Amino acid sequence: MTIALRAEALVRVFPSPGGDVHACDGIDLALHPGEMLVVRGRSGAGKTTLLNLLGLLDRPTSGRVVIGDTETTGMSEAQLAGIRRDRLGFIFQSFGLVPVLSARENVELPLRIAEVDPAERDRRVAEALDRVGLGGHGEQRPAELSGGQQQRVGIARAIVADAPILIADEPTGQLDSQTAATIMDLLGELAHDRGLAAIVSTHDPLLVARADRVLELHDGRIVDGGSGATTPGSGADATVAVARGAAPASGADAPGTVARGAAPASGADAPAADAPAADAPGVDAPGADATLTRAELRRRREGR
Ligand SMILES: Nc1ncnc2c1ncn2[C@@H]1O[C@H](COP(=O)(O)OP(=O)(O)OP(=O)(O)O)[C@@H](O)[C@H]1O
Ligand SMILES: [Mg+2]
Repeated sequence: MTIALRAEALVRVFPSPGGDVHACDGIDLALHPGEMLVVRGRSGAGKTTLLNLLGLLDRPTSGRVVIGDTETTGMSEAQLAGIRRDRLGFIFQSFGLVPVLSARENVELPLRIAEVDPAERDRRVAEALDRVGLGGHGEQRPAELSGGQQQRVGIARAIVADAPILIADEPTGQLDSQTAATIMDLLGELAHDRGLAAIVSTHDPLLVARADRVLELHDGRIVDGGSGATTPGSGADATVAVARGAAPASGADAPGTVARGAAPASGADAPAADAPAADAPGVDAPGADATLTRAELRRRREGR
């Protein structure tokens, strides 16, 4: 089976006066094309540390990150930068747009860096802006766009160079809950429609419901979601799998994942778009898992 990104025994220790902080403490995971994997956990759980390691923005204290078939351990900074440019698309909580550039110019930046020729750049930028629903907004600067629109520009920029992997650290952290839900839906659609492998962190249990799989972090370790949803016999994919409505291009039957019945906690009953973006109550309580399947979520939203 294809694996877009793999982490093995990933450890990141930050020395600190009060003692070493094990921000990542032995993480194994595999991310497949066509799936959106959500990483959740309380503040300080290690989400950003993990995504920075997976995105080759930081180096592990020990363990390895493999992108596609490429082992990244021991690579030079220039080599890592090349992989980031060609294989990874980043989406940031604060959008990361250049304020003096238009939406179109922001999306174009990665293609300029990759020295794509101008006609091809124009074509790809227009396609990416259309894909995120901003076809008519290319000439507006970030300050002239809403938060949700700015994040759509950020997503267009992440997909414009056709990177197969998307890494998004709290991409909805600055958005109201309804906008956050639409952004999360867009990320899920991109994963499913384009076969992208997306890994997204969030605090919000209602956004977690949109995941294909959920990985819960606590003190730098993966903790399972309870309900017996462990991952027997798999060191490389120790995540909780969420049964889903639509199968990804591949990887739905990933060994080591366990499809789970939809057992929503209270609070997950509200239509996702209307619910407040709470700071993940019960995020550390495996029994209070607020995950729903996409199909179930859709049924509830439509009142069926
Ligand atoms: N550069 C650093 N130096 C020292 N400690 C760090 C550093 N970066 C992170 N940490 C520590 O590592 C732990 C995990 O931090 P991290 O930022 O990964 O958490 P998080 O889950 O992303 O939290 P949040 O939800 O608040 O963004 C925390 O205890 C944090 O203080
Ligand atoms: Mg963080």
